[in-house]
Amino acid sequence: MRRFSILAVLLACAACATKVAEPQIVPQPARLELAQGTLNFKGISVCCDTELDSRSQAAVQEFVGRLTLVSGKHSKLAAGASCPAGLSFVRDASVTPEGYRISITPAAAEVRASDFNGVLYAIQTLKQMLPPSVFGVERDRCADWRVPCCEIEDAPRFAYRGFHLDCCRHFFSLDEVRKIIDVMAAFKYNRFHWHLTEDQGWRIQIDKYPRLTEVGAWRNGTMVGGDWESNDGIRYGGFYTKDEIRDIIAYADARGIIIIPEVDLPGHMQAALASYPELGCAGSQPQPYEVWTRWGVSSQVLCVGKEQTMRFLEDVLGEVADLFPSEYIHIGGDECPRDEWKTDPDCQAKIRQLRLKDKDGVSSESRLQNYVTARMQKYLATKGKKIIGWDEILEGELAEGATVMSWRGTEGGIKAAGMGYDAIMTPTTYCYLDYVQDNDLVKEPFSITHQWSPDKQWTENPLTLEKVYGFEPLDGIPAEAQDHILGVQCNMWTEYIAEPDYLEYMYFPRALAIAEVQWCQPERKDYERFQASLAGRQLPILEKLGVNYRPL
Ligand code: ACM
Repeated sequence: MRRFSILAVLLACAACATKVAEPQIVPQPARLELAQGTLNFKGISVCCDTELDSRSQAAVQEFVGRLTLVSGKHSKLAAGASCPAGLSFVRDASVTPEGYRISITPAAAEVRASDFNGVLYAIQTLKQMLPPSVFGVERDRCADWRVPCCEIEDAPRFAYRGFHLDCCRHFFSLDEVRKIIDVMAAFKYNRFHWHLTEDQGWRIQIDKYPRLTEVGAWRNGTMVGGDWESNDGIRYGGFYTKDEIRDIIAYADARGIIIIPEVDLPGHMQAALASYPELGCAGSQPQPYEVWTRWGVSSQVLCVGKEQTMRFLEDVLGEVADLFPSEYIHIGGDECPRDEWKTDPDCQAKIRQLRLKDKDGVSSESRLQNYVTARMQKYLATKGKKIIGWDEILEGELAEGATVMSWRGTEGGIKAAGMGYDAIMTPTTYCYLDYVQDNDLVKEPFSITHQWSPDKQWTENPLTLEKVYGFEPLDGIPAEAQDHILGVQCNMWTEYIAEPDYLEYMYFPRALAIAEVQWCQPERKDYERFQASLAGRQLPILEKLGVNYRPL
């Protein structure tokens, strides 16, 4: 019996590849030179420079623990900058922020980085050079833990590498959010844009306004598929407490990710209005407010002519700013119909008081929104925060120091950068991962693209993996303004995405294409290499991470 099981293990191992695979790393490092020979990481001793910060030390420790677990041979961790026959992590102030250097010879390996993210990214690169089972939590008895000798020098093209999730149209569990953060970290994303307030649900505890979650977090049903008149009749909702959010902030922080919360204002506020109807435009409502059960752009928006509404916004943003350590708070600003303001006495009085005029094709109501944005910017500045807003904040007068998130194409980003403002590129045409990924609408699950093309079996412009990969964020930006493009972000709006499996299917692998857009200089991008790399290495990694990706 025993002899039989040994034979089974030997046969299983014989079936495993014995050749050391060429590194297939996504995003592709800036420079990677292969050399002769290999170094075996199984049971390798690891040294960690005491000059590295405590988060880096913890990350190295986690890596060593995992290596021991999956390889089945103990790796010893020592404090100290140099392991002559092992793997050393060294702090080196000369390395670019978030960058790293890796040198692997047949005798030893060395990682150099100047900061925490650099250490993390070196570890992620090493993990992608090891068998995918290093991303799992089980011992892999027959994996080959040898890594090819090489020199790698790497640093990101863009400092802002964003990943967005709408948890309002559909609510995602803390476990799912943590899983998303794990995958983000594996592919060197560093900003998680968390969309927390919407017409269809308010998702963040605010102490001063408990009804936002008692009332605003719950809707009486949801429209079914693309049928605007339908309602499934199922009460739906959920929210995150401040303690839960603190846990997620810490979880992301340990993975080099800053969370940027979004409170979308002054439109997309119907859930807040259902909670506190006095914040709406007096007398203009044909029916009481409800947390919206349909998708689209609601005409019911905050009544910003009232001082009470402005105090509400400052209170909410104050609590959000106190909770999130991020330098930036996203204040939304998109898709705010201003029809109610045209007839509302408080809004009109405010327009008169501020002497706002219809001028240069910009209405006085649009300028009223500028006033709200500027006031929130000033308030948040007192809390040491800067604002990001969707590109609608460019209409009229842009608030001081605001960063523009360009979603209706790249024009907003080009304009903002030209005006000397910072911008982040997230155009629908390349970065909206809720759009269908193939032209066969029959085969693909129901998406927002199906909603727009109800009678079509095929769509002419699906957002394929290749299309996403082809995005060049600096196209159209004059050389002198390019530094204002902080980076790129993929967005995920979840009207038609209710389940984690489907969410992951829409993100992956397209989010890995965005990872290369964010990280790689244009000359390092190569779609064929990227695709081969996905097939050979990254899709197996996603499998180990339990991700339901869309097969190539
Ligand atoms: C947006 O997609 N409404 C920013």
